Amino acid sequence: MSYPYQLKNFEEYQQAWQHSVTDPEGFWADVADHFYWRRKWDKVLEWNFKEPDVKWFTGAKLNITENCLDRHLGTLGNQPAIIWEPNDPEERHRILTYRELYNKVCQFANVLKNNGVKKGDRVCIYMGMIPELAIAVLACARVGAIHSVVFGGFSAQSIADRIQDAQASLVITCDGAFRGGKDIPLKSVIDDALMACPSVKKVIVCTRTRTPVSMLKGRDVWWEDEIKQVETMGNPPAPAEEMDAEDTLFILYTSGSTGKPKGVVHTCGGYMVYANYTFINTFQYKPRQVYFCTADIGWITGHSYIVYGPLSAGATTVLFEGIPTYPDAGRFWDIVDKFRVNVLYTAPTAIRSLMGFGLGPVNHKDLSSLTTLGTVGEPINEEAWHWYKDQIGKGKAPITDTWWQTETGGIMIAPLAGITKEKPGYATLPLPGIQPILVDENGNEIEGNGVNGNLCIKFPWPGMLRTTYGDHERCRTTYFATYENLYFTGDGCLRDEDGYYRITGRVDDVLNVSGHRIGTAEVENAINMHAGVVESAVVGYPHDIKGQGIYAFVITEKKHHDLELTKKDIIQTVSRIIGPIAKPDKIQFVSGLPKTRSGKIMRRILRKIAEGELDNLGDTSTLLDPAVVEEIKQGRL
Ligand code: WT7
Repeated sequence: MSYPYQLKNFEEYQQAWQHSVTDPEGFWADVADHFYWRRKWDKVLEWNFKEPDVKWFTGAKLNITENCLDRHLGTLGNQPAIIWEPNDPEERHRILTYRELYNKVCQFANVLKNNGVKKGDRVCIYMGMIPELAIAVLACARVGAIHSVVFGGFSAQSIADRIQDAQASLVITCDGAFRGGKDIPLKSVIDDALMACPSVKKVIVCTRTRTPVSMLKGRDVWWEDEIKQVETMGNPPAPAEEMDAEDTLFILYTSGSTGKPKGVVHTCGGYMVYANYTFINTFQYKPRQVYFCTADIGWITGHSYIVYGPLSAGATTVLFEGIPTYPDAGRFWDIVDKFRVNVLYTAPTAIRSLMGFGLGPVNHKDLSSLTTLGTVGEPINEEAWHWYKDQIGKGKAPITDTWWQTETGGIMIAPLAGITKEKPGYATLPLPGIQPILVDENGNEIEGNGVNGNLCIKFPWPGMLRTTYGDHERCRTTYFATYENLYFTGDGCLRDEDGYYRITGRVDDVLNVSGHRIGTAEVENAINMHAGVVESAVVGYPHDIKGQGIYAFVITEKKHHDLELTKKDIIQTVSRIIGPIAKPDKIQFVSGLPKTRSGKIMRRILRKIAEGELDNLGDTSTLLDPAVVEEIKQGRL
């Protein structure tokens, strides 16, 4: 594969960016021309941010899997598509060539059809990081089913909420998943979730851990048995379903400032073009390089930069089942060494945690294959940036700090590795096609450099969300109503004297814990479900490794009870309701919360207290009960 639209130097970047602004339709049509379409578009872009209504490549027909698989078979059939590294380093790794991956996706597409899955049906996928997860995702795309992947760390309740919202008819899961020393009983969690999900008619269970599972007659079938059946049928072909460019490809749930996660909807054509374009340009991927993204496919990073971006580019993508610290903190470096990884894409939280183990796990690992490093998910502090640069990249691999969101589908602001300038802590410059703008509280544009504001985007890009599943009004109010004619990211941002962007963090009630997005309202709802809890308020505070930690202020009923035990019970409740990722790090029992006279909790004050900024709480005189602030300050953890 060659990438005619891969930018090669700073001048080309500048020209491309200019072109994308003066003639967006021409710019994206040139890129889209390099894909395989069953039918080309009538119009490149139709849009308004008012409703919003955004359509890219209208009238075009395609199937993304023909771009990720079929079109590579002639030239890359024997090239590794997926290199899978198991949790246990003693277990053998697996390599799937493009031909093998194609065959497996076709087989499983037929399994889905045999189980009644049709175009437009919603399929929930809850699996660990094994090749079958990528196969399941691609097989859904092949038959035109809409996948909704749920991260393995979510609870039964969270899965049930997502399945009900999407009205999924089929679930694909595993008996269990290996992660570090743990064996997570995925099927058992699904069984709990499905008690509240009448829409689900079938469950396909893939064997991984051999954890005992209960298989419900008439509902649950084994992946392996279903594959055998397709083989008995003589492995019939699995023609890809013809999709409209604007048909939904997938739903991915993400947290916001309300209690209920929303289903971000991405469509086939624009998402494909954008995931591919940003992959090739940000990482400057070269044919036959080995690319390793450490994210989980349960998050958008895994969708765009383990599966769709790399595979549509004919790349070799490493899929790792385990965690960075198992069996020891040298695991990433062992994998880089073992497969001669060229491009490594990981999260600041992982870097900070590995930094804490010193250089022992890094020394004597051959990292000389690395040409490019990437980070994503949260702001990276300078110390971690330099450690990554010096100790991992040995000072010679460029770092691309990529800012984007579940909603954006792909990377938005980032250095093009080695081509545009990098700056520690900065996502730097927008990719071609992206028009960032900073606004003040009233939505007025903040022009010039050396300024701070709320980050918005003023023109559509192909990878942007189209709606939130089943509730378009929610999409409008969340992203397009705060500021007229702008997409609002929810992030605060600095544009420095050179015009480089630095994301400073969320300006809404959304936390970023270890790169995972968690709504404070969601955690509060979960805490409030615990018997004896009257009310709670959750805020973030700076955490050395996780970036942000979760600090909960909780009012309980006046009873004689063991408060330490109550804390544990609350943590257990949150784990049950949302999942272990949302467990509060600190719980402070209080007798009241700082509220305005109208009853609104003053989070600003709680945030300051959690951050330890006790002298700088601002005006507290308008509070209903100013005395409560003093009590909370005294009891701070
Ligand atoms: C939020 C999106 C899409 C990647 C995975 C997270 C924060 C993301 C950066 C970065 C500073 C970042 C933002 C954003 N974020 N990347 N490079 N520098 N902050 O996706 O769960 O949708 O979260 O993550 O706050 O809004 P997500």
